[in-house]
Amino acid sequence: MVPSTGYNKTRTAVFISGTGSNLKSLIKFSKTTKSPISIDFIISNNPKAMGLNYAKKFKIKKKVLNFKNKILSEKKLLSVLKINKIDMICLAGFMKILSKNFIKKFKGKILNIHPSLLPKYKGLNTHKRALNNKEKYSGCTVHFVNSRLDSGKIVLQKKVKISKNETEDSLAKKILEQEHKLYPKAILKVFNL
Ligand code: GAR
Repeated sequence: MVPSTGYNKTRTAVFISGTGSNLKSLIKFSKTTKSPISIDFIISNNPKAMGLNYAKKFKIKKKVLNFKNKILSEKKLLSVLKINKIDMICLAGFMKILSKNFIKKFKGKILNIHPSLLPKYKGLNTHKRALNNKEKYSGCTVHFVNSRLDSGKIVLQKKVKISKNETEDSLAKKILEQEHKLYPKAILKVFNL
């Protein structure tokens, strides 16, 4: 990615489905002088997503699109993003799969964070599968989004040690803490900063 010209930061939308703790950490990061991005829009497929509260708190525009009709929702989405001059997308716990057509329109400009050391454990229930397989380590990955699920070019990863009595919940918590640090770092890397 090339940073926006002048003093303007790259206008970014964050897509969420739930708690939005990564969204919160990205908003915090975006307000630092070193951040090449500003968070200008929040999209959710879930009207009850807790993360939507950050829109009000930080005075960021938001839109809920249910994705029941993916073609229609993505059409509305593209229009909203265009009107708001959004040039980059960060998926942060967004649990819907974007279409090839949508991804093509934002080629090389969509990042995702995934709670595993990709290419291991793509998709859902990552922690459960890592524990069942008696992995010694898990972690998180920030990657570019392409048309294959959790398969785009990896930007950064952080390894996390799995302890003896690890549960799904304790592992999720441990990894999430690392996600909050990894996403901003990955954004700096993408912008060559
Ligand atoms: C995070 O652990 C993120 O990596 C994961 O959902 C959680 C969202 O937490 N994403 C996926 O599983 C995507 N396939 P948050 O809403 O608190 O940021």
